[in-house]
Amino acid sequence: MSQELVNNLLKQVNYPGFSRDIVSFGLIQEAKLEGKKAFVKVEITSTDPTLPNTLKGEINRVLLNNDSIDETDVRILVKKPSATNSTQQANTEETVLQNVKHIIAIASGKGGVGKSTTAVNLACAIEKILSEKTERTANIGLMDCDVYGPSIPLLIGASEKPHTISENLIAPVESFGIKVMSMGLLVDEETPVVWRGPMVMKTIQQFANNVEWGDLDLLIVDLPPGTGDAQLSLAQTLPLDGVIIVTTPQKAAFDVARRGARMFEKVNVPILGVVENMSFLLNEEINEKSYLFGQGGGPKTAHALSTAFLGEIPIEQEIRLGGDNGIPIVISNPEHFASKAIREIGDRVLSLL
Ligand SMILES: Nc1ncnc2c1ncn2[C@@H]1O[C@H](COP(=O)(O)OP(=O)(O)OP(=O)(O)O)[C@@H](O)[C@H]1O
Ligand SMILES: [Mg+2]
Repeated sequence: MSQELVNNLLKQVNYPGFSRDIVSFGLIQEAKLEGKKAFVKVEITSTDPTLPNTLKGEINRVLLNNDSIDETDVRILVKKPSATNSTQQANTEETVLQNVKHIIAIASGKGGVGKSTTAVNLACAIEKILSEKTERTANIGLMDCDVYGPSIPLLIGASEKPHTISENLIAPVESFGIKVMSMGLLVDEETPVVWRGPMVMKTIQQFANNVEWGDLDLLIVDLPPGTGDAQLSLAQTLPLDGVIIVTTPQKAAFDVARRGARMFEKVNVPILGVVENMSFLLNEEINEKSYLFGQGGGPKTAHALSTAFLGEIPIEQEIRLGGDNGIPIVISNPEHFASKAIREIGDRVLSLL
């Protein structure tokens, strides 16, 4: 009973900067009540020195607000990000992700703005740019962290099952020279992916630790929309170089994108820049752009976040068709103006890295 009371109270405490509570994140090591004194042990993984005190203050506030408690003993155990997992997994992580030069995530506050489409096309564009520049084959990885609604395999035409290398290691699937890992490759299309929050964290840790990415020049990570456990888990598990925020031109998207970005700032992940997707519709015959969703949302978001504006991607039927057919437009039609726009964004990302 006493444990249940403390546990229920802790469910009111959100992880700082997130909409999820510390209990459902699986961070509680101990929660009990002896007489009127509550004992709580929480284990977090963070490099933010202010986080333990913020969390402790919030836990104390919630506990002491309850009549059954008049004293607390709250301990926050802090682990460095590289030690998130068991020793064995940490070792694997060192040997696996050690060979990844850069890791960037693609995020947005709002759903359906084109994160996954951007992630796939950027991966293919950057692979080409880097291969040309270095005169060797560039190695680019694409990790789909949208555990509930994985769309990367469809967008990049990957359908093989990943093969097992050893008990703890699977190989990513290759498509258009990009190494891909996604929940969509591991479960059947008909299987509903009903994962609890902590499972999402576990999955992302396994994508980092138990996938043989090998030597990568760049790993691009596609996130689900919003500010949830996947983002937190990612910031804790992967040494991100930064995040690219995708937004659409309208005002509503601007507000949400800004909120999403703030979350990364709270966990000390730099915002590399902003991409505006579905910026305009081009009538090629008369060379006229129509701004269906308004104008200026991307640059405005970048300005508000004091970060770079990386460029705009037009609304284009061929982009959507490329997604539906599993052949990204930068591959199927590299001379298309939309492909050129995406390559320019790729150039800017590379120079930022
Ligand atoms: N520039 C574009 N022009 C035309 N269609 C686009 C463009 N960008 C994305 N789309 C289409 O919009 C839909 C949503 O795109 P996508 O899945 O990439 O968005 P998302 O932000 O990853 O969505 P979610 O939030 O669900 O993960 C897809 O059908 C895609 O083909
Ligand atoms: Mg997506």
